[in-house]
Parts: sequence; structure tokens; C-alpha cells
Amino acid sequence: ATIHDQKLSCGHGGELHQTAEDGDTVLTTAQGGPVSDDQNSLRVGPRGPLVVDDFHFREKIFHFDHERIPERVVHARGYGAHGFFETYESLAAYTKADLFQRARERTPAFVRFSTVAGNRGSSDLARDVRGFAVKLYTQEGNWDIVGNNIPVFFIQDAIKFPDMVHAVKQEPDRGFPQAQSAHDNFWDFISLTPESMHMIMWVMSDRAIPRSFRFMEGFGVHTFRMINAKGESTFVKFHWKPKLGLQSVVWNEAVKINGADPDYHRRDLWNAIKSGNFPEWELCLQLFNQEFADNFDFDVLDPTKIIPEEVLPPKPVGRLVLDRMPDNFFAETEQVAFMTQNVPPGIDFSNDPLLQGRNFSYLDTQLKRLGSTNFTHLPINAPKCPFHHFQQDGHMAMRNPVGRVNYQPNSWGEGPRESPVKGFTHFPAEEQGQKARLRSESFADHYSQARQFYISQTPPEQRHIAAALTFELSKVETSVIRERLVSHLMNIDKSLATAVAQNLGLRSMPGPASAALPTRQDLDPSPSLSIVER
Ligand code: HEM
Repeated sequence: ATIHDQKLSCGHGGELHQTAEDGDTVLTTAQGGPVSDDQNSLRVGPRGPLVVDDFHFREKIFHFDHERIPERVVHARGYGAHGFFETYESLAAYTKADLFQRARERTPAFVRFSTVAGNRGSSDLARDVRGFAVKLYTQEGNWDIVGNNIPVFFIQDAIKFPDMVHAVKQEPDRGFPQAQSAHDNFWDFISLTPESMHMIMWVMSDRAIPRSFRFMEGFGVHTFRMINAKGESTFVKFHWKPKLGLQSVVWNEAVKINGADPDYHRRDLWNAIKSGNFPEWELCLQLFNQEFADNFDFDVLDPTKIIPEEVLPPKPVGRLVLDRMPDNFFAETEQVAFMTQNVPPGIDFSNDPLLQGRNFSYLDTQLKRLGSTNFTHLPINAPKCPFHHFQQDGHMAMRNPVGRVNYQPNSWGEGPRESPVKGFTHFPAEEQGQKARLRSESFADHYSQARQFYISQTPPEQRHIAAALTFELSKVETSVIRERLVSHLMNIDKSLATAVAQNLGLRSMPGPASAALPTRQDLDPSPSLSIVER
């Protein structure tokens, strides 16, 4: 007996509506062949083996077996929405980028918010940095501002990124913790990386447990350039300011919410947008020239430093509105490919070594994750302006040159040509120096801005930072790592260091840490670092 023989009382006419009736769409295979029975595989007799003839079964299972693609190596858990960016005024004085030439110009946008450390199925309210990645589909190609909700970063040089990410993710032998930084490897790396201290203050603050994506700031982090039609450069830092203001939850709320609803941030964005309550952010720019950069207390190329807003107030230049959820999570949110190197003419890079490393990295990661050089053919990644090039073939090529011409120059008078006028020209910055592996001495002060951040917090916020550090370090089993971290806190704020040391029950107060990078001697395993202690 097959399922069709069973008369179940539900659906059409009181019976289970399992097969097509007049007017219904007929189920097909991926090849378009109509399917007669999707409930029973083809077999020899009711209790016999399956037969190889069953191409529908084979195709269905084959496709299902290949549904997963690799999750992002970082920022695996994310949630996106569509919307638009609208300018307030022309910024032609600063940039020739088409989207900034006219007031009230609208550019379609897709934004993906994310956590960094957790895997694709982890909880939304982890204590973590949040990604804030914006894709603007401009008339001169896609512009991706791939930022975070914290304006600084853990490291100054992209060559440290794999170490940093290995350290924060689950430990390779035990495979946990999966979604948080409270473990020995992370704090070992951090305590050996003084440049991370400013970021650590932000990550241990309320900023790292936002109430929802709608109450979060976004930052481009690095210094970029804007280039105007005369070829003049202005340095710029990008900030997204939420119209709803900034709100966070406290740790014990986050822990409960994670247990009750790990999709809390997703649900919040979905419900808000579906009910017409569209979240909005203002794009604000910190614009400055070379003279400002030369006179500023810190190096503007150092991604572990900010330019305080009271020193250089951000100028609001437009608004970002999110007003439509994706039709399909996988097709849009999962397959969207952000890349810092996607910039239109009129936007350019600075020599921030982290930014330059990122510009190198993102193309590779998209190829690995999406599996084909043709990932730009996916609708979510394709430009929304006219585009013409001679790239062809490769896996899953959806668009190929039409006709004979697939190169230029050619004698057939066909196809696109490069344009020195309209095309992207890199800002002709003059560079000199010896090729060497080095880091600028101007990047060396790792504590002043960490201290500035800490003392800018209200007393309850400062207590939250102390409590966060205590919780995190209490999960660290190796005492020398706890002590080393407290020795960095001594350089930031003695009362914070003392509070954390007391909460952890440290036997004695360590002295202030050296800001120098660790030497080979520092890294030699001491008896207290031995595996036995863990
Ligand atoms: C993904 C931000 C540094 C490599 C992302 C995403 C964001 C982001 C927001 C998620 C994009 C999405 O939603 O799809 C940042 C920021 C950084 C930073 C703000 C520092 C200021 C780096 C560095 C590297 C790097 C230094 C490597 C050298 C990656 C990779 C992904 C990623 C490989 C996964 C991309 C994917 O598979 O789609 N980053 N990142 N990031 N980032 Fe970064």
C-alpha cells in the first residue's frame, strides 16, 4: 500500500492534498520533468530493495546532500536586510563618487550584521564584536563598507589576523568554546598582544552586548580617502549612527535571552521591518587633511586608535534605511560577498596595514566560500549598474560574452573600452622606504586611548567592564595568563586592575606590563604555563 491509498482527513475536500489537481503547479525534477510520486521511492515490491532506475530519488537526495556551503571563517552568524542610502547634500567638494554628487540621491543597499567568533548556529547575544557590513549598489559599481560596531580593532597588521582568529575560536583539541572569548587561548593571545588593549576595553564594555542591531553604531574603522574631481584627497572615517540611539543589555539579561531565544537579534530585525518600523542610521564623516593627520596625537593609519569625536565632530551626510527583508536567507544573507576592495571612483584607501591586508584577503575568502570565480553572477552580488567586461567561463558561468569579441583592443569595433576619464584611478600617493618587515613606531602607544575609553564610561558602565573581565578571566585556567592580563590593566587604570585582581583572588598584584611585543624569553613556557595546570 502506498500513502495515496490512505484517506486522511485534512486539506482539500477532507482528504490529504498530496497530488496535483486541476490548476495546481505540478512538482518537477530540477530538469523540469513532472513527478508522479514524491512520497515513495521506487522499489521491488512493498518490502524489497530500491532500484537504480529511480532518477528522481537520486537527484533529490544528491541535491540535499550538497546543500551546505562552508560558513564564513569569521562573522559566520549574521542577518541581513535590504534598504537604501540617501544623501543629504552634495559632497562634490570632497569626492567625485557619483552617489555623493546630488542631494537626496538614493542608492540601493544591503546590510549584514553579524557576530565574529561564534559559528553559524551560535547565539545572538554573545559578548562579541558585531559586524556591520554595508553594500551600496552605486551607479559606478558596488561599494562595500565592511565595518564593525566598534571603531578600533584587535591588531594593527593583517598578518596577525589568522593568529587572532585561531585564538578566539574554539580550541583545536577540545572544540570549544564555540561562541565566546572566555578561554585560555584567547586571553593568552591578548595578553601577549598589547596593541589589543584599546579594543579589549570596548569588547568588555556594554557595546559588546547590543540590545538589537537597530541600536548599534557602525564604523568603517580605518582611515580612507575621498578624492574629488580635481584629484584632491581628503582623509575620511565612516560612522553609522543609529537614529534610535545606542542601547545594550546587561550580562545576566544576555545569558537568559540566549537561553530563551538564541535568535533574539534576528527576530527583532525581522519583526521591526515586517511591521513597517524601518531602522535608520545616519552616515557621518570625520573628514581631515594631511596637516590634521600630521598634528594629531596618534597615527591615523593605526586601526587601534580613534579620532575622538570632540576633536573632530562627525558630519552627517546621509541616511541608511532598512525597509525590506530578504525573500530567501541563503540566496541573499548567506551568499552576499563583502569585500573592502570594492570602492567606486572617488573613494580610496590609506596605508593602514590592516586595511591593505584586508583588501588582499576578501577575494580569496569569497572564492573559497562560494566556490566559483563567478560569485559576482549571484543576484545579491551583481552590480545594479550597467557593467561590461570580458571575463568568461569558469564554474557556473551565468553570463558570457555574446558574439565573437571577448578581448580588447579589437578590430571589430565592438565591446567596452577602458576610460581614463570615468574609470577608477588610484590616488598617486608618493611612497618611499626600504622593503622590510616592520611596524611604525608611531603605532606604539597601546594604553592611552584604552584609558581614555575607560574613564569616559559612567560608574555603572565601568563596573560592567570590571565584571566582564572578571567573568572572562575566571574561565581562564592558567594563572600566568590572568596575571599577565591584569598587568596590562595596570597600565590602563589601577582601580580597574585592582578590582579585577581582587575578584579573581590573585595572590599578589602584578606590576605594569611592558608595552613591547613579547620576546622569545617571554614566550618560553614557564612551569605555571604547563598543561598540567589546566
Ligand atoms: C568577514 C569586518 C579585519 C578577513 C568580515 C565581516 C565583517 C568584517 C563585517 C562579515 C561580512 C559579512 O557580513 O558577510 C572586519 C573589520 C576588520 C576586519 C571591521 C578590521 C577593522 C579583517 C582582517 C582580515 C579579515 C584583517 C584578514 C586579513 C575576513 C574574512 C571574512 C571576514 C576572511 C569572511 C568573509 C566571508 O566569508 O564572507 N569582516 N574584518 N577581516 N573578514 Fe573581516
